[in-house]
Amino acid sequence: MKDFRTPHTLVTGGAGFLGSHLCDRLLAEGHEVLCLDNFFTGSKQNVRHLAGEARFELIRHDVTFPLYVEVDEIFNLACPASPIHYQEDPVQTTKTSVHGAINMLGLAKRLGARILQASTSEVYGDPRVHPQTEDYWGHVNPVGLRSCYDEGKRCAETLFFDYHRQHGVPIKVARIFNTYGPRMHPNDGRVVSNFIMQALSGTPITLYGDGKQTRAFCYVDDLIEALLRLMRAPREVTGPVNLGNPSEFTVRELAERVLELTGSKSEIRHEPLPSDDPTQRCPDISLARRVLDWEPRTPLDAGLKLTIDYFDDWLRRTPGKTR
Ligand SMILES: NC(=O)c1ccc[n+]([C@@H]2O[C@H](COP(=O)([O-])OP(=O)(O)OC[C@H]3O[C@@H](n4cnc5c(N)ncnc54)[C@H](O)[C@@H]3O)[C@@H](O)[C@H]2O)c1
Repeated sequence: MKDFRTPHTLVTGGAGFLGSHLCDRLLAEGHEVLCLDNFFTGSKQNVRHLAGEARFELIRHDVTFPLYVEVDEIFNLACPASPIHYQEDPVQTTKTSVHGAINMLGLAKRLGARILQASTSEVYGDPRVHPQTEDYWGHVNPVGLRSCYDEGKRCAETLFFDYHRQHGVPIKVARIFNTYGPRMHPNDGRVVSNFIMQALSGTPITLYGDGKQTRAFCYVDDLIEALLRLMRAPREVTGPVNLGNPSEFTVRELAERVLELTGSKSEIRHEPLPSDDPTQRCPDISLARRVLDWEPRTPLDAGLKLTIDYFDDWLRRTPGKTR
């Protein structure tokens, strides 16, 4: 029987990296959590520790198909997030963003539920404005290898705002910048997981281009706090709002931090920059500071240590992998 006092929350992509941490937080705060995933990049392993929890339910479902459930709020996170994965089936990637948004917005409209979209800094493309504020429209290639993700996410934002204007759906759009932490996919080619896995296994660290391109890295717990604050913010706070860590590091600096923290002897190897790889990426989080009273708290070294511990443990537990 439904308990009407407990908030019922749907997390799409809930078995992924960010989704699984969000499920943890929501359960800790007393929510009933419906975790939906098609396990394309996520895994049951990420939420296995929640299996015995009475307020947690896991369903295998693809967001490109309609869903009929009863919930009060929806966090729409379903979408592969790393280039290796989203370029594997680019048509499905666009469908996941666009059809997924239509299906989840339709559900929110029917239920009168709040809905939050996990959008991305990739909507800014290779930005000509630095750092990026939310009113910057971006510099995006519509026909490149990354377009399935970038344009899919841009179209999803359009749908969110049109459902809001046309149907009054209470929306929240979070533009998430590089986030890292335990439960990242070990082989997804994202820079933090890549460097840590390479350092721990003693293979060369691959640095694309000259390594001077910058990234700003947000630890997962900080990001989840921001998503919760955004969902709970007053109705008029729709976003889009940048969420990320504004402390900028070059990719080379990151490689050096990882080498030092792991004590690894891996050498740094240079490779050509992939197509459309942005050279600079840093959020302006003034809006998040103002409307959510939020800013990241975890220093890079502290977050890296927790992530290194996770991957170290993962390597020890996984047959055929060497530490
Ligand atoms: N981690 C970051 O740095 C970052 C940055 C910007 C935006 N985001 C966004 O946050 C969300 C979560 O990212 P993540 O880093 O946890 O990635 P992830 O790949 O770990 O998680 C995505 C989850 O969505 C699931 N999924 C994919 N397609 C689906 C579909 N059609 N139906 C149902 N489930 C599907 C995957 O199996 C996976 O569990 C994504 O929407 C991503 O675009 C993440």
